[in-house]
Amino acid sequence: MKKTLLGLTTAAILSFSMAVQAAPIKLKFSHVVAENTPKGQMAIEFKKLVAERLKGKVEVEIYPNGQLFGDNKVLEALLLGDVQLASPSLSKFKKYTKKLQVFDLPFLFDDMAAAERFQSSDAGQALLKSVEKKGLIGLGYMHNGMKQMSASKPLHVPADAKGLKFRIMSSDVLSAQFKAVGATPLKKPYSEVFTLLQTKAIDGQENTWSNIHSKKFYEVQDNITSSDHGLLDYMVVTSAEFWNGLDADVRTELKKALDEAVVLGNKVAAEKSMSDKQAIIDSKRTNVIELSKEERQKWKDAMKPVWKEFEDIVGKDLLAAAIAANKE
Ligand code: LMR
Repeated sequence: MKKTLLGLTTAAILSFSMAVQAAPIKLKFSHVVAENTPKGQMAIEFKKLVAERLKGKVEVEIYPNGQLFGDNKVLEALLLGDVQLASPSLSKFKKYTKKLQVFDLPFLFDDMAAAERFQSSDAGQALLKSVEKKGLIGLGYMHNGMKQMSASKPLHVPADAKGLKFRIMSSDVLSAQFKAVGATPLKKPYSEVFTLLQTKAIDGQENTWSNIHSKKFYEVQDNITSSDHGLLDYMVVTSAEFWNGLDADVRTELKKALDEAVVLGNKVAAEKSMSDKQAIIDSKRTNVIELSKEERQKWKDAMKPVWKEFEDIVGKDLLAAAIAANKE
């Protein structure tokens, strides 16, 4: 048998190098929501597609419910290589770019179709690149849906929110939005919301129907106003170091799998925005308030001055492009 200088057979070297090549790349996907949510389902679909198409090359591990990292830490964790994929809400990128704050402006999008049009426009697509200077790569958007307000007391008009404490995501726009109606906003991690509501340390919060349902916020809030006052969508992100270090064919397959998983996630989001609302109504655990046209207009009038406050920060052109997405 032919031996090399180190005394290893050629066959041994070959099998060793094959074993090295065969070690799959671990891709940790960390998120904060439950598995029965649009993002939870998207992650599961992504893992399934990758297992089918990149078997032995890439292995996806999902960490839901903030098991591994909360959203305040996950972007840092991406940059440190502790996770490889995340999709925080667009409200959580303040340290990385100010531009994405446009998505938080209250009553900016008339409906999800308008949000979709803006995200797929040139301006929206350019925003995916706004995090690149910080070493992150925006791989795409994903929907959750429109936010609703919940509170210990019924919220019909802005004056009803006066003096109440609301949990918000870590966004200055959201802070300004609640200050505009005389309320006190508190930036708190998602994982703490249920307990804060249950113990009455805070009076209310804003979130989508699927988040209110999956995390049982409706069981500890007597009232939910169907306000559709703002958007909660996501950006799927990875780190440039990880992404650019992949073989081009692996990268292409991963992106394809992700795009397909997002299509499924968006479908789940659209369904859940109705079915989770209905499930909450049917539970009879809370009072779901539908606003009249006049009442909704009052919330709009009270919150819209926030746009002016942030137009120079997000950029007037960007704001104009987002507004324009409301018209087909
Ligand atoms: C929140 O913190 O309320 C949301 O960002 C949670 C999520 O990821 O949908």
